[in-house]
Amino acid sequence: MSHNTFGHLFRVTTWGESHGPALGCVVDGCPPGIRFTEAELQHWMDKRKPGQSRFVTQRREDDRVKVLSGVMPQEDGGLITTGTPVSMLIENTDQRSKDYSEIAKRYRPGHADYTYDVKYGLRDYRGGGRSSARETAARVAAGGLARLVVPGLRVRAALVQIGEHRINRDNWDWAEVDNNPFFCPDAAMAPVWEDYLDAIRKAGSSVGAVIEVVADNVPAGLGAPIYAKLDQDICANLMSINAVKGVEIGNGFAAASISGEQNADEMRIGEDGQPVFLSNNSGGILGGISTGQPVVARFAVKPTSSILNERRSIDSEGHEVDVKTKGRHDPCVGIRAVPIGEAMVACALADHYLRDRGQTGRLD
Ligand SMILES: Cc1cc2nc3c(=O)[nH]c(=O)nc-3n(C[C@H](O)[C@H](O)[C@H](O)COP(=O)(O)O)c2cc1C
Repeated sequence: MSHNTFGHLFRVTTWGESHGPALGCVVDGCPPGIRFTEAELQHWMDKRKPGQSRFVTQRREDDRVKVLSGVMPQEDGGLITTGTPVSMLIENTDQRSKDYSEIAKRYRPGHADYTYDVKYGLRDYRGGGRSSARETAARVAAGGLARLVVPGLRVRAALVQIGEHRINRDNWDWAEVDNNPFFCPDAAMAPVWEDYLDAIRKAGSSVGAVIEVVADNVPAGLGAPIYAKLDQDICANLMSINAVKGVEIGNGFAAASISGEQNADEMRIGEDGQPVFLSNNSGGILGGISTGQPVVARFAVKPTSSILNERRSIDSEGHEVDVKTKGRHDPCVGIRAVPIGEAMVACALADHYLRDRGQTGRLD
């Protein structure tokens, strides 16, 4: 399976399978001189790791990240990047391959089983191999480093919709995101989701979700007008996450139903003499280049395809079969997709920051 690398100057390669001994990534192109600790990376890993509530898979993984190369230890116990490839490893400790024996030949409808067999003729059915979202642990580790490449960058995400239940945006409070198991910024919606997802889970079913990612302190000028649009690369990074079926920037699809006057982000000169935008429908990107406003992206994930309820399918020997998937699955993959979305946006921004410095020579 080729194509395991993304990014141009901040270049991330991930490796490893869901049911192998370990997985990880190599970040090539990380600038020298970035100080960090493994604990800082672990903070992001802990947000994604499984088994943290009854609303996510009960697989138990510590997801301890070990930095193997590309750094020198510092006297304060931290690490500093040397500019050589940063290799990071995460061990798999809680595989249960036998859970997957029933789908060794059967294709789960809505999963990657059928297309994997069509393409490679060989499929690691134990947990889905590389098509398992376990691979995204490595992206979150890379994202932890990417966040440090752009000075002052802050990338946050929240779950804004589960199934048909959307948050009330007037209630948005970032401080609420860590107060519930859903990364929900609306304190009133979290209990609604709790009851709703309990019912979905008990029924052996699953449901989709929408995640919003907001990046603050993105300098103006990142990206390029045609084949290296910042929004294009953010969308590609988000779309590469398992189960993602839609991505939008700023007001996205809603822009199609409003007038030019409503959509225009009007400009004025602020008290400090700098340009000020009066709104941010563009999601912080115009003509593929960052405006200096917050970069806003949203992505939709589909309902988990591995469900307990029987669905019609076929097997690799040409028989019609009924498939129900046992094992430990996320009833709503959108929850754990929140830190993954943050990481993928951070990687796109780090990459564009380095590309901008490379072309313009700007150092701010
Ligand atoms: C965090 C996360 C966890 C996931 N967990 C599961 C899971 O437990 N069971 C499952 O069938 N799919 C799960 N998925 C989705 C599948 O990996 C994905 O649907 C599959 O690889 C097919 O790819 P596609 O949906 O992008 O077409 C998860 C996705 C994410 C982002």
